[in-house]
Amino acid sequence: MIYFDHNATTPIRPEVLHAMEPYQTRAFGNPSSIHAAGRQARAAIDVARAQVAVLIGASSDEVQFTSGGTEADNWALHGRHCVTTSTVEHPAVLRAAEALQQGGARVQFVAVGPDGRLDPAAVLDAIDSDETDLVSLILANNETGTVQPLAEIGSVLRQRGIPFHIDAVQACGKIPVDVEMLGADLLSLSAHKINGPKGVGALYVRHGTALSPLMHGGGHAQGLRAGTENVAGIVGFGAAATLRLQELAADGLRLTALRDRLRAGLMAAIEDVVLNGSQAHCLPGTLNLSFRRIESESILLGLDMEGIAVSGGSACAAGSAVPSHVLLAMGIEPRLASGAVRFSLGYGNDADQVDRVIAVLPPIVARLRALSVY
Ligand SMILES: Cc1ncc(COP(=O)(O)O)c(C=O)c1O
Repeated sequence: MIYFDHNATTPIRPEVLHAMEPYQTRAFGNPSSIHAAGRQARAAIDVARAQVAVLIGASSDEVQFTSGGTEADNWALHGRHCVTTSTVEHPAVLRAAEALQQGGARVQFVAVGPDGRLDPAAVLDAIDSDETDLVSLILANNETGTVQPLAEIGSVLRQRGIPFHIDAVQACGKIPVDVEMLGADLLSLSAHKINGPKGVGALYVRHGTALSPLMHGGGHAQGLRAGTENVAGIVGFGAAATLRLQELAADGLRLTALRDRLRAGLMAAIEDVVLNGSQAHCLPGTLNLSFRRIESESILLGLDMEGIAVSGGSACAAGSAVPSHVLLAMGIEPRLASGAVRFSLGYGNDADQVDRVIAVLPPIVARLRALSVY
């Protein structure tokens, strides 16, 4: 299989699995227990907390582990009354914001330009500083890879004392993410996007940031999040974070070169292909292309039959014929949005795989276009 769907999820690296293994078997203690087995589990969590904190330039005690990026996003928005966000957020933020609206909160959705980027001035203009108790924005889009100019927004929000949540689930471990440089008060992370296990993530909570618990129960995490910790998952997250930090610069260059090779090869071999998102401000491994006169599902299936895994729009929207809300928000016409394919490269991908996709896709597109009714 050629796996070009790393924005959906990633394989667990062997080093990560190795680090997790003892905590699935012999080191099974409950981190809240005071005996030796419990203390061993607690110590492992503390190491992982430090490893995740370093990845984002935070202190260890500002990292709260969660069940993933979705919980971290929901937690950040929980209990807010006046929120400013954007039209290109992940559903974890969009749906949480809509739920707040249904409960009577005010929510503003700021629009993006045709390249999917936010204008910092437009975001700041949309904020009613007397009322706003959260601005929540995505750093790198999961569908297009477009990276937003959040540091510019964050510095103004800090001056104005408005809490700032950043969904950095796709950005973290792929481009440098630093909570100080971004001016973040809250920041969401997820392990399975960086070759860690599924079902574990984190919310960075700057010292002094107001946050109400989402989970009530025992007094875990100083009463902020009840529930016995997913020790092995957290250990795996820490190990994955360390590897990403070590390899960030080299991997960024490697994946950018592979992504550019894929884009150039496909655009040279296939007519009527449109690049979605910002070319200048994009995650290293992400490429989103629309193929005119074809539905992305047909391309996905054609590639799947050749053992190549890609995605159309976001994973959550896959299987439904609804064009991506992100592409529609960028002003892309629905038909073109329906032909969008996301290639997301990562660990284990190489130039031979890219060349194979460049060889396999043009005949698939030609065949589908020959059958196309529009
Ligand atoms: C930008 C973004 N935010 C949040 C999430 C949700 O993360 P998780 O799958 O860990 O719940 C995802 C996952 O696709 C994502 O891409």
